[in-house]
Amino acid sequence: MRYGHFDDHRREYVTTRPDTPLPWINYLGSEATFGLISNTTGGYSFYRDARLRRLTRYRYNNVPLDCSGRYIYLRDNDTGEFWSPSWQPTRHEVEDYICRHGLGYTIIGSSYKGIEAQTRYFVPLGDSLEIWQLTLTNQRQEPASLSVFSSIEFCLWDAQDDATNFQRNFNIGEVEIEDGVIYHKTEYRERRNHLAFFACSEELAGFDTQRDVFLGPYRGWDHPAAVERGRSFNSEAHGWAPMGSHHVRLSLDPGQTRRIIFLLGYHENPPDRKFAPPGSQTVNKQTVKPVIARYLGEENVEAAFEALRAQWEAMLGIFQVETPNVHTNRMVNIWNPYQCMVTFNLSRSASFFESGIGRGIGFRDSNQDLLGSVHTVPERARQRILDLAATQLETGGAYHQYQPLTKRGNDEVGGDFNDDPLWLILSVAAYLKESGDWSILDERVAYDRRPGSETPLYEHLQRSLRYTLERLGPHGLPLIGRADWNDCLNLNTFSDTPGESFQTVATKEGKVAESLFIAGLFVLAAKELAAIARRRCLAEEAQRYHDEAAKMAAAVLEHGWDGEWFLRAYDAFGHKVGSQECEEGQIFIEPQGICVMAGIGHEDSRAKRALTAVRERLSTPHGIILHQPAYSRYYVHLGEISSYPPGYKENAGIFCHTNPWIMIAEAIIGHGDQAHDYYLRINPSAREEISEVHRCEPYVYAQMIAGRDAPTHGEAKNSWLTGTAAWNYVAITQWILGIRPTYEGLQIAPVIPSNWPGFKARRVYRGVTYYVSVKRVGKGDMVSLSVDGQPIEGDIVPLPPEGQTEVMVEATLK
Ligand code: BGC
Ligand code: NOJ
Repeated sequence: MRYGHFDDHRREYVTTRPDTPLPWINYLGSEATFGLISNTTGGYSFYRDARLRRLTRYRYNNVPLDCSGRYIYLRDNDTGEFWSPSWQPTRHEVEDYICRHGLGYTIIGSSYKGIEAQTRYFVPLGDSLEIWQLTLTNQRQEPASLSVFSSIEFCLWDAQDDATNFQRNFNIGEVEIEDGVIYHKTEYRERRNHLAFFACSEELAGFDTQRDVFLGPYRGWDHPAAVERGRSFNSEAHGWAPMGSHHVRLSLDPGQTRRIIFLLGYHENPPDRKFAPPGSQTVNKQTVKPVIARYLGEENVEAAFEALRAQWEAMLGIFQVETPNVHTNRMVNIWNPYQCMVTFNLSRSASFFESGIGRGIGFRDSNQDLLGSVHTVPERARQRILDLAATQLETGGAYHQYQPLTKRGNDEVGGDFNDDPLWLILSVAAYLKESGDWSILDERVAYDRRPGSETPLYEHLQRSLRYTLERLGPHGLPLIGRADWNDCLNLNTFSDTPGESFQTVATKEGKVAESLFIAGLFVLAAKELAAIARRRCLAEEAQRYHDEAAKMAAAVLEHGWDGEWFLRAYDAFGHKVGSQECEEGQIFIEPQGICVMAGIGHEDSRAKRALTAVRERLSTPHGIILHQPAYSRYYVHLGEISSYPPGYKENAGIFCHTNPWIMIAEAIIGHGDQAHDYYLRINPSAREEISEVHRCEPYVYAQMIAGRDAPTHGEAKNSWLTGTAAWNYVAITQWILGIRPTYEGLQIAPVIPSNWPGFKARRVYRGVTYYVSVKRVGKGDMVSLSVDGQPIEGDIVPLPPEGQTEVMVEATLK
């Protein structure tokens, strides 16, 4: 069953009924001001940091679902009837309801009794505000007398404090209302120098800024007193819950259309110019007023929307494909890179499942997210790498997360995830291959942001490898620490206290438990660093990394092969995890993917056998499961993994992030059919038809799909902010379609399904546009290239001479 459809031409997902299984959301903004917006306008806005600078309030896990947002109410002044064009919060009967989620904007609207209303929401480039453009049309035969009410609830900035510290917060709310603009200035009198504003393009009939006056006692957003009586109260908030609402009265002739603009924004004043006149407590509005004036102008708003559209056009234009498969095209050309940018911007901070409070920018997460966006925003990727590296510690270890606003490591989140530092090498390698900008390695970057501790970035990478080498266990395999990629495989935690967080509780010394996943990742990273060292003419060092990689690979083969697949780990007692010997958790997906990707087990049949075992034991029609059998009870020596009921999350869920590792591994061993088959199983567009089962948005990946052991097998959770986005993008574009940046040029090595006649791609790479046409003439993956009509040796297209901006590549697959 579907709840809408894709409009590929407009690059939108169109939801045609509002009662989707879960709120289907989109993101506004890509620089500083962000918003989450659901298909019924639920959600909230924030500036840079969803915890520390939250503009509007949102109640997670609320009843009814998703009920705080950017609400507009319409009221027929003749009959007193009122409704919301976005269905929520009044949930009246809707006609022609539609939500178009597009790239950085959302349009929501419906009709009711001949009044058509549509609002387009977006954040313009370069400024810190949300624009809501409401278009109203009277389709009745007679004139309509209408009232429009806007409404948002201000959050008192720190979302954590806002949701907990009521004894203080009910006293501090402050607003100013000037020329119809509502300014939210709580705590501005003291240490803040920022404020929020909510403006409207029309002359106001009234306003409200005190929530409980606007709503009336014991009423919800579905029935505000002001809207019901058709007149604002002109309330001024002093303490309690400041909100913003404008009331506009208008008459529309039959057939007439009117546009109204609302602006919800964030503004900072210099600390010494906060007040005007100086010495007063009145907000200085000198610099904010021009911003408001600009965007209240219809033409400026249209120009801003056009600029946003053009930016996405350019960003997506970097890689476009035409394959025989519609779900592949749609995801590669539109939604997957879009989701990659959202994960790049927000890491794991704010979604419908991430509260914006608990998690900031993840070290391992953001290094991986970058793999899917480095070609889209290379300059921003460069800065991100430097920011991440600056939270590395002198030991080479890393803070697991940092706050986006301060860029400082977040101490409240546990550390000692021993895989963390290695991901930095992968992101830097990806950046170098994409951009050719070797200067980044010489950038001086501090440790723990401590002034005076700076070394070249290259040394950060060296320390990352050393961090693993200095932490090897009894089998010469990497010690796992608190956990590796699988946050929940807590082999040193031994937690028996209810409620204790596995992510932060102190761990045992951890001198025994080893991770095969980190071993595979180390081999991958050591090979990457060797390749970098070689190109920096550090031949000896490169050789050393090669040797270390070989030594680790040998240890994996000696102590990490279980007979038909790679082991997962050794626990704190030196017992195997992920082995036929185990009662539960006999085989895990992660080491099969990462070891094959790292080139381990290719000399004999082991790589192939590991992947066969995955196919036989872990794959389902809904994707590949994390491990089998699921843990049926809690094991104190395994930790959080066994805390989940079977089939959910890390306990044998389909943890989508890991599936592309298997796709890549299958592609590496030449199984194009299998790789693409796995690709389609979790491809959201390919799952659109079963939306009632999948339940999350059909246009973006979710972190998890319930596994075979769960009663809700096939149901997705935790959509949007997941490493699944970047890794699927890498798997399909670089390994299945096979278009890969390398140090020497663009590699074309497709491993596509055997029944595809070929495909076409357009890739902008280091300023040159490559038009790639792949034709299949045989069943295999042997590729011959001709470049601008001339056959070349190998599968890497060399960079063209200076000045040439277009290259035609013909690839033949035999
Ligand atoms: C989840 C993980 C997550 C971790 C850190 C765990 O409860 O299962 O997926 O990475 O928390 O927030
Ligand atoms: C989600 C986390 O964000 C990610 O870092 C981790 O690898 C996975 N969960 C698996 O536990």
